[in-house]
Amino acid sequence: MKSSVYECSIVHLPKIHNEAGNLTALDNQVNIPFDVKRVYYLYDVPGGAERGGHGHKNLQQFIMALSGSFDVLIDDGINKKVVHLDRPYIGLHVVAGIWRELINFSSGAICLVLASEKYTEEDYLRDFEAFKIFKH
Ligand code: TYD
Repeated sequence: MKSSVYECSIVHLPKIHNEAGNLTALDNQVNIPFDVKRVYYLYDVPGGAERGGHGHKNLQQFIMALSGSFDVLIDDGINKKVVHLDRPYIGLHVVAGIWRELINFSSGAICLVLASEKYTEEDYLRDFEAFKIFKH
């Protein structure tokens, strides 16, 4: 699969602001570049813990820091990028075929993940060497 980290994009979401606070809405194919089939979130991540450490064959993700902050390392087997997420109105679209690691979680961070597919272990590439073979 030829996907590259340069196809992964940072998306600034609309913020509806009034004196009572902010609201951000997420719509399939409008600001989320796929149809969401699953939502999950990471929380109570211990200091120093690393999440991710895998790639996906078909699944795309939209990753947001709803609270706190963390870094997302993305790697297509050739190029790498690090994206710091720390705002609930900014998301990272990770296309299929990208290795990702989530690190440097702040205390109390909540990572929201929107996924383009239902959960199946078959879609995971959990070994980096197998991931690189998949990419070629
Ligand atoms: P994993 O995707 O490896 O988490 P992370 O990338 O955040 O480190 O999933 C951790 C565990 O949770 C693994 O045993 C699979 C399971 N899991 C589900 O059962 N359903 C899901 O939707 C997800 C994302 C994971």
